[in-house]
Amino acid sequence: MTKTSESNSLTPFERIDESGCVHLSLASPEDTEALGAHLARHSPWAPQGGVLSAYLHGELGAGKTSLAQALLRALGVTGRIPSPSYTLVEPYDTPHGRVLHIDLYRLNAVDELEALGLRDQWLDCALLLIEWPEKGGSGLPACDLRIELAVAGQGRRATLCATSDRGREWLGGVCGNAVEGAPR
Ligand SMILES: Nc1ncnc2c1ncn2[C@@H]1O[C@H](COP(=O)(O)OP(=O)(O)OP(=O)(O)O)[C@@H](O)[C@H]1O
Ligand SMILES: [Mg+2]
Repeated sequence: MTKTSESNSLTPFERIDESGCVHLSLASPEDTEALGAHLARHSPWAPQGGVLSAYLHGELGAGKTSLAQALLRALGVTGRIPSPSYTLVEPYDTPHGRVLHIDLYRLNAVDELEALGLRDQWLDCALLLIEWPEKGGSGLPACDLRIELAVAGQGRRATLCATSDRGREWLGGVCGNAVEGAPR
């Protein structure tokens, strides 16, 4: 994800494709941070409530936590933002409402979601950022934006796919900015 001279605009190497996905090259951790900030800036908050959900897929070390941390930071979260890999869930109160950063890698069975009280917690949330969502199976709220991260050389490759109307609004906001003034 290359920054252009315009503040925080991005250069995707592909636009949104016919599947509703966009592909980005994140050459450095700073690029991952910039993507997190863009996602925060363009989140389609619902004034009447309703949880927005981003599923973060990718192998160990792909950058899921880094992206979530950057998004949270851009939402105004101050202080340490720990990985939820041991606690499974870390809550944050932001001006837009409560955000849950969830990591299900250590979940043993889908019914543990109930035992952890996660289902009760996410009802009142504005945004869920879920690492290892595949571990939660059908027990999770529907996905709005699916983000896949993969190691690519020294950097990362990101694929963002909208999977709902709100997801399309979200990705459109990010990419509207992304293509602004940026060469292909
Ligand atoms: N675009 C990038 N290029 C190179 N390194 C990156 C990039 N983005 C993040 N990283 C680095 O990748 C490392 C692992 O990141 P992170 O902990 O976010 O991965 P993760 O996907 O959450 O892993 P896990 O599945 O173990 O939770 C960190 O050191 C981070 O700085
Ligand atoms: Mg992680």
